[in-house]
Amino acid sequence: MTAKIINGKQIAADTQAFIKERVSALSARGINPGLAVILVGDNPASHVYVSNKVKSCGVVGMHSVLEQYPADLTEAKLLERIHALNNDASIHGILVQLPLPKHINEHAVLEAISPTKDVDGFHLINAGALMTGQPRLRACTPYGVMKMLEHSETVLRGAHAVVVGASNIVGKPMAMMMLQAGATVTICNSKTRDLAHHTRQANIVIAAVGRAKFITGDMLKAGAVVIDVGMNRDENGKLCGDVDFESASQIAGAISPVPGGVGPMTITMLLMNTLEAAEQYT
Ligand code: GUN
Repeated sequence: MTAKIINGKQIAADTQAFIKERVSALSARGINPGLAVILVGDNPASHVYVSNKVKSCGVVGMHSVLEQYPADLTEAKLLERIHALNNDASIHGILVQLPLPKHINEHAVLEAISPTKDVDGFHLINAGALMTGQPRLRACTPYGVMKMLEHSETVLRGAHAVVVGASNIVGKPMAMMMLQAGATVTICNSKTRDLAHHTRQANIVIAAVGRAKFITGDMLKAGAVVIDVGMNRDENGKLCGDVDFESASQIAGAISPVPGGVGPMTITMLLMNTLEAAEQYT
């Protein structure tokens, strides 16, 4: 079998066109959705991520501000900025890029963001809302994966989904979204014994472990839908996912590539969350 490709780049472009229309409808009513992105320190990867986030706002006609601070910024100063942005009516979404320098308490920072402006969906209120089946602002990457599954017409109700990875950012919210959509969900982690035994049962595999080409074709059931959340470098320095695309695409029914899969959807759902925050909380 040669798998159908789930083209995240295309789905992201279509979704952004839809967001752009809603942004202009909202702007016509005098509300221009605005995103504030805060970067502390000089992590080169974080620089690339935040500049892509800010650029994407321009593509859909949203207002954005990028605040950059040196690595020695105090936690108190960062919290002060967050409080100011919480009270700024031109800002509907606040994103503090992770990781933060070690001296800053990440939990305290994430909890300081108003839940109504928490476009990452990381605040306890938003995590809890998802957990209890009343989602408000949702974590962007799993939200994007749900859109990809919807576009590829993957049946979730009654399907067995195996989520490989249990992070707060991807694995856990992903499992909750799949559960809510009616799937039977198994969450695996780095300590899972005989991982292949679990992944071979799955109609849907979501790989979010952060290990290059970790899920191979022999670990899949024929016809499974495979979504690759990974973003790694292979032995030649080439960008690759958590799934070994070459072997997996021979067994899977549908598969998302890296690059061009989940990556473009994560930014798109950040824009969607900012739009939803502006629509619902102003
Ligand atoms: N660092 C890596 N991924 C993310 C993300 O989704 N949001 C934030 N705020 N920081 C990140």
